[in-house]
Amino acid sequence: MNADVTELETIERLKCRIAELELQAVHAAEVEDALRQSQERYELAMRGPNEGLWDWDPNTKELYLSARLLSILGQAEQTIRTTSFEWLKRVHPDDIAVYEAEVTAHLKGRSDHFQCEYRVRDQQGGWRWVLARGLALRDGEGRATRMVGSIGDITDLKRREESLRDAHDALRRAHGELELRVAERTAELVAAKEQAEIANRAKSDFLANMSHELRTPLNAIIGFSDLMLSEAFGPLGSPRYRDYLGDIATSGGHLLAVINDILDLAKVEAGQFELRVQPVDVADTIAAVVRLQAGRAEEAAVTITTDVATAMPRLLADPVRLKQMLLNLISNALKFTPAGGQVTVGLDLCQGSEFLRLTVADTGIGMDAEGLTKAMQPFGQIDTSLTRRHGGTGLGLPLTKSFVELHGGCMQMDSTPGEGTVVTLRFPKRCLVP
Ligand SMILES: Nc1ncnc2c1ncn2[C@@H]1O[C@H](COP(=O)(O)OP(=O)(O)OP(=O)(O)O)[C@@H](O)[C@H]1O
Ligand SMILES: [Mg+2]
Repeated sequence: MNADVTELETIERLKCRIAELELQAVHAAEVEDALRQSQERYELAMRGPNEGLWDWDPNTKELYLSARLLSILGQAEQTIRTTSFEWLKRVHPDDIAVYEAEVTAHLKGRSDHFQCEYRVRDQQGGWRWVLARGLALRDGEGRATRMVGSIGDITDLKRREESLRDAHDALRRAHGELELRVAERTAELVAAKEQAEIANRAKSDFLANMSHELRTPLNAIIGFSDLMLSEAFGPLGSPRYRDYLGDIATSGGHLLAVINDILDLAKVEAGQFELRVQPVDVADTIAAVVRLQAGRAEEAAVTITTDVATAMPRLLADPVRLKQMLLNLISNALKFTPAGGQVTVGLDLCQGSEFLRLTVADTGIGMDAEGLTKAMQPFGQIDTSLTRRHGGTGLGLPLTKSFVELHGGCMQMDSTPGEGTVVTLRFPKRCLVP
């Protein structure tokens, strides 16, 4: 009876043990499956970013390199068991120090993880940049017993970085050169400007002195020829002397006018010309100049008419220069209009009263585009028989333009050969006195 009981108990225990073992076998299969899946997942993960795996024993120096790591280096092997001494032989001499420093720092626990960028010789003998990362496993006393990590090929990245750096350097150099060039050019320009200013001042001084020197004897010539013409101290004797004296006085007057024009233009160009502005009744000035030119107009058989708008505001202008501008434009119109022609002097407000407009129009010989450009240059004269007949120095138009611009206005010339010319002077609103 007792023996039966013991046997039954043993059988029961054995059954339980078998059941336990079966359960453990199922569990082991599950664990194995999970491990395989995890390994597959890891390999997939490593393949994505093209990274290889290494596993190192710091004590024995044994080093395991995965197939993917070896493929990065151009080797066909599946895996390799080597040593860290062998591996170090492949590291670029310039990178060994930093590589060893990073490994030691992590082994000694001075860094959370190992990370280092360095160059490794590949199978073809070339250098490949890699990024190595790893983590040490430690025993109870904190000593590293194993270090596992990955290696990724960053050669392309490094090359891109390098070319970017080169491009940056080139850009910086180009920038530096450009700045240097700009500085040099600026210095040259400043020097040239100073030279030009010195030359200009010298020219103005020369002209001022010259015109003074010329004016003094000219005043004597004009003054004494006038005096002699008046026969204040006795008769001239021969009537020919009267004619000659007349010529002397006229030529002297003409010379003086030319000298004054040259001096004015030199002053304008040197920026030394100063206007003496005051409110001027432009209609009065027009009437005065037309009166002055009446004799010439009659001689040329050209009619002058004026067309002045009513209730014109006064103009803040230099009256002498305004008269000079009008005189030149009207005398030009008379000079270059054949007999029977017409000259019209107009005055009105234009562009919604933004400008005061002064026009001198003629029905004369006109100018083509080339002539217009030439006429605006100092001493520029268009070679026609009429020009020759009437003389002049070619300073009137450039002076007129400079004067109107000194007033803040502008000059416009429209002309058609054979039909006539219109010269327009515009003075801005701020020059008007209500
Ligand atoms: N109304 C015009 N019609 C045709 N040609 C003109 C007219 N006004 C000027 N010109 C041309 O432009 C040239 C330059 O004119 P500008 O008034 O500058 O000098 P000028 O009259 O020759 O001499 P200056 O005015 O110094 O006595 C003239 O010689 C002439 O050829
Ligand atoms: Mg003129």
